[in-house]
Amino acid sequence: MGWLRRAWITVASEVAWRIPGRPQRLLHAFSLAERGSMVDVLFAAEATPRRDLRRKYFLHALDEGRHARVFADRVRALGRGDRAEAAVEDSGQLVEAGISGGLTLFERLGEDDFLAFVYVAEADAVEQFGVYLDRGLADPDTALELRTILKDEVFHVSYSRAELERMRKDGKPVDRMVRNRRLRRLWERYLRLTRDIGARVSGVWLTLLYFVALGPFRLVARLERGGWHPVPPRAPDALAAARAEG
Ligand SMILES: [Fe+2]
Ligand SMILES: [Fe+2]
Repeated sequence: MGWLRRAWITVASEVAWRIPGRPQRLLHAFSLAERGSMVDVLFAAEATPRRDLRRKYFLHALDEGRHARVFADRVRALGRGDRAEAAVEDSGQLVEAGISGGLTLFERLGEDDFLAFVYVAEADAVEQFGVYLDRGLADPDTALELRTILKDEVFHVSYSRAELERMRKDGKPVDRMVRNRRLRRLWERYLRLTRDIGARVSGVWLTLLYFVALGPFRLVARLERGGWHPVPPRAPDALAAARAEG
């Protein structure tokens, strides 16, 4: 399956980097993802009972925070730094990342599954950035930053893999955990894709509905006068007739 994933990354990368305006969107998404990772790993540093891992989580979180800033800087350098738009996207990010259902990712998964999650996510990032660099897709300044970031990501892969190996020696089902994490990522990708398709399709239907069903009514409709309207008085005997019936 590794070749299939790499083929998919290659096709998606060509689309993401070659179409004008897309690299900025991609880098912006990276910046948000890196910041989300920073939050997740910081929570892990706070919650883990292991002192040795706490230090690694903390260094990892510092790396991710730095990556988020680097990617945001690249977006600005490439010419997309709309503050209002960024604020709206940030508000969505706060909902989607960090605490969900009152629990952090670390609390939801537990330390073993969290490490499997870190390993899978970081290994995917290394593979993805490797494709960008191998194919020369990024502009020279971004490529320079990617090379530096890639070194950090390799550290994240190596410490999480070392922990998984330790767990394997303890008899834990590491392969199954990693496989489950990969399937979970695929499922989340599918959900994101269907959400995006749903948003676009509903946009098309609402536009059609407006022009086909609502628009023509405007041609024959008469606009109501604005402002206060006098209410016509009721028939004077209506109240008395109602009382008489009661
Ligand atoms: Fe990162
Ligand atoms: Fe990372």
